[in-house]
Amino acid sequence: MIMANSSSHLHLFSTLLIIISSTQAQQFKPTSLVLAIHKDPTTQLHIANITQRTPKLSFPFVIDLNGHSLWENCDPRYRSSTYQAPRCGSPQCSLAGARACLTCPSSRPRQGCHNNTCGVTSINPVSHTSGLTELAEDALSVRPITNSGSNAGPLLTVPRFLFACAPASLLRQTKTNVLPKGVQGFAGLGPSPIAFPTQLSSRLGLPRKFAICLDYDGLVLFGDGPYIVLPGIDISKSLSYTPLAITREGEYSIGITSIQINNKNVPLSTSTSTPIATKISTVIPYTILQSDIFKAMTQFYAKELKSVPRVANVAPFGMCFNATYIGYSRMGPAVPGIDLVLHRKDVVWRLFGANVVTRGGNDAVCLAFVDGGARPGAPITVGAMQLENYLLQFDLGGSRLGFTRDTLLFQRTRCSNFNFTS
Ligand SMILES: *[C@@H]1O[C@H](CO)[C@@H](O)[C@H](O)[C@H]1NC(C)=O
Ligand SMILES: *[C@@H]1O[C@H](CO)[C@@H](O)[C@H](O)[C@H]1NC(C)=O
Ligand SMILES: *[C@@H]1O[C@H](CO)[C@@H](O)[C@H](O)[C@H]1NC(C)=O
Repeated sequence: MIMANSSSHLHLFSTLLIIISSTQAQQFKPTSLVLAIHKDPTTQLHIANITQRTPKLSFPFVIDLNGHSLWENCDPRYRSSTYQAPRCGSPQCSLAGARACLTCPSSRPRQGCHNNTCGVTSINPVSHTSGLTELAEDALSVRPITNSGSNAGPLLTVPRFLFACAPASLLRQTKTNVLPKGVQGFAGLGPSPIAFPTQLSSRLGLPRKFAICLDYDGLVLFGDGPYIVLPGIDISKSLSYTPLAITREGEYSIGITSIQINNKNVPLSTSTSTPIATKISTVIPYTILQSDIFKAMTQFYAKELKSVPRVANVAPFGMCFNATYIGYSRMGPAVPGIDLVLHRKDVVWRLFGANVVTRGGNDAVCLAFVDGGARPGAPITVGAMQLENYLLQFDLGGSRLGFTRDTLLFQRTRCSNFNFTS
């Protein structure tokens, strides 16, 4: 039902595009695009500078893998000569699934506040707040990938890119939900028809695929590979694949059938015949496990790492070890890896030291997993730290997730090795 909906939306959208593109000169057609991202050290969120408007302006946005749209703060003064807000009942509004028609209480219209425009719900996944926001269009610029996957070209402008224009209150911060400095919104990479990858693919005729590669300096890649990082390694080659589902909430989901440490199964109480529903998130720093899975995994891990004395837990973690006993390798701290066995026994996502443990103060090295309580949103939500230096390709057309089985560190490279010079 969700699928049928989005494909009719896509059809509607392509019709709309033909109308739009016939009015503009068609320039050079890229086969893939790249967005540079950067990990904010304080919040551990991954942010991208996104260029919009006329004249062009760039602001940092938080990358939200499951977000439905690009939404941004339009207060107090959004200035652009190419801003437009589609009227209620327009094809853009149906594409966005907008149900509300807005009225603006103020007699002075401003961007984000017009009468008879359509309202879409925007969600701040960090503060868990949401609001009704004006559906809008403006020019958006991104860099094409050039030289057969090796470099990034100069900015390419996509006119009338749909986004949501939100009040500043949706970015409100508190002591417990802090955003990186200067952030103006969230860039949603979800499966929705107006999400970032879907729009770019349909507007530029790219395959319905995008990929993320997180690192302190990472990448979002739109369209298909090759994606080449220094020293000349095509990281889109030799991916493993597992089925990719979309949940009722419109979030990406994969299935984990077992967890292995040193090639031994962690004894999980859940029946092994049904895979464990697993979400993937870029807005939580560490993987969250339902309590029973968390306890089983951390206890099993401690048994496998008997030789290292434990130390007091450091929040938010629940299992820490004495750092002086732990050496380092190319793949991070030399500790046992954690293997996530997916839909088939031979399809395994292998986490090594760098994605398994993290420093918890001076003396502690802690399992970088968090106890989510008895009923978290999903039994497992893989967080950003566990995604670092793996290429994850979301193949929306093929309903599958492609991933590098081993960390890129294994191949002596990393996501930050993409060459952004033209
Ligand atoms: C975004 O822009 C700022 C200021 O121009 C710059 O310092 C920062 O490195 C940029 N971030 C990314 C991910 O390119
Ligand atoms: C929008 O409509 C409301 C209610 O009809 C009216 O009070 C307000 O002045 C209108 N705003 C603009 C900008 O026309
Ligand atoms: C870790 O081990 C070292 C060496 O045995 C010891 O000196 C230190 O006190 C231990 N740290 C903690 C926090 O237990």
